Amino acid sequence: MGKPRILLALFALCVILEPCYSYGQYRSLRRMFQGLKASMPSEADPGKPLFLTPYLKAGEVEKARELSLVGPLPGANVKSYSGYLTVNETHNSNLFFWFFPAQVQPESAPVLLWLQGGPGGTSMFGLFVEHGPYVVNQNLTLAVRKFPWTSKYSMLYIDNPVGTGFSFTDEKGYARNEDDVGRDLYSALIQFFQIFYEYQKNDFYATGESYAGKYVPAIGYYIHIHNPAAKIKLNFKGVAIGDGLCDPEVMLGGYAEFMYQSGLVDEKQKQYVQQQTALGVIYIQKKKWIEAFDVFDSLLNGDRTSYSSFYQNVTGCTNYFNFLQCQEPPDQEYFGKFLSLPEVRKAIHVGNLTFHDGSEVEKHLLEDVMKTIKPWLAVLMDNYRVRSFALQGDILVSASL
Ligand SMILES: *[C@@H]1O[C@H](CO)[C@@H](O)[C@H](O)[C@H]1NC(C)=O
Ligand SMILES: *[C@@H]1O[C@H](CO)[C@@H](O)[C@H](O)[C@H]1NC(C)=O
Ligand SMILES: *[C@@H]1O[C@H](CO)[C@@H](O)[C@H](O)[C@H]1NC(C)=O
Ligand SMILES: *[C@@H]1O[C@H](CO)[C@@H](O)[C@H](O)[C@H]1NC(C)=O
Repeated sequence: MGKPRILLALFALCVILEPCYSYGQYRSLRRMFQGLKASMPSEADPGKPLFLTPYLKAGEVEKARELSLVGPLPGANVKSYSGYLTVNETHNSNLFFWFFPAQVQPESAPVLLWLQGGPGGTSMFGLFVEHGPYVVNQNLTLAVRKFPWTSKYSMLYIDNPVGTGFSFTDEKGYARNEDDVGRDLYSALIQFFQIFYEYQKNDFYATGESYAGKYVPAIGYYIHIHNPAAKIKLNFKGVAIGDGLCDPEVMLGGYAEFMYQSGLVDEKQKQYVQQQTALGVIYIQKKKWIEAFDVFDSLLNGDRTSYSSFYQNVTGCTNYFNFLQCQEPPDQEYFGKFLSLPEVRKAIHVGNLTFHDGSEVEKHLLEDVMKTIKPWLAVLMDNYRVRSFALQGDILVSASL
């Protein structure tokens, strides 16, 4: 991944707001290749989805904001806004956002976009499990998080790309590469900053983790290219990437040693990992993207395979986001049920729309997974602040890779 420039402003994300190690416990990336299912309500009234683009087009900005104000939620409430931004009319592509102004000095606090990984992981994971102002209790009420990123930053959570979580599109609108991802996100950001215009002047950062190691450079690069000629300028300052999958060809080489040094595999198993990752690299060099993906998948995720992964077989663990926790903590799944509650759906303006588990998104991006984003990341490093952070215990996209 090269040498990311470390800078203090974003370092604060980790150190001041939440000590990296303690948040490691819950910081697990949104599953790299699995989504979350949240069923749809049937009985009570979930309200109607709110599409803001028509209001923006009609010049009714104040109305758009007013309508997007999130209604009462069970348990705890902080001021926030949510709704849909239409990013591609041809394919009825709509991105769902949930925006939390900073709790302190929102008028000058940086605005951070947060993108989960996947492909197809909902950013509601980041919101409810990692750093948003809310945590979901087992009884499906909300409590406030002790050290949310929203205490110092305005947070914009977007379900990205279209087809992820509450975001949706038709069959032809799915992103097939990082150009598509950047283009759709950029459209959403431009609209967002027109509706929430007073935040336009604030510093803006794109952040995310895991597979967002591709998304974050994609939107950063898209902004870099389009900002100079754009009517609405984004005050883009940089990016922060946690446990990012940015350059699989280079990263694959690190798995065997990392797993061995962590005591997860023995010498013989290490040799197998080495041999498989070397095979993955060969496929990448031959641009056999699906074959490369399948090697990686069979080794770690077991997502497309009908059998359990090598990792699962040798460790007996199903959680690969933190090797100190063999199984994923059950409280990481509460938010799925919470988002199915009709009163919650009404409050956040999604109505009865399906919450997608991201599997369609993954299918459409399968050829993209093992491709590198390095050239775009390099441009960002030359022009903006770039922070890379990682948790030691993450196996899927570990720090040492
Ligand atoms: C809409 O999506 C299609 C398919 O990805 C793409 O070719 C087209 O350029 C998009 N249109 C806009 C306005 O972004
Ligand atoms: C739900 O659980 C939380 C945390 O355990 C508790 O504080 C709250 O009183 C419970 N609320 C209801 C309605 O049971
Ligand atoms: C894991 O074990 C199962 C059952 O023995 C086997 O079918 C599967 O091939 C193994 N996975 C890998 C990647 O070796
Ligand atoms: C949502 O409700 C509308 C209007 O009642 C209905 O036409 C539509 O089919 C429903 N959508 C889903 C996904 O159930």
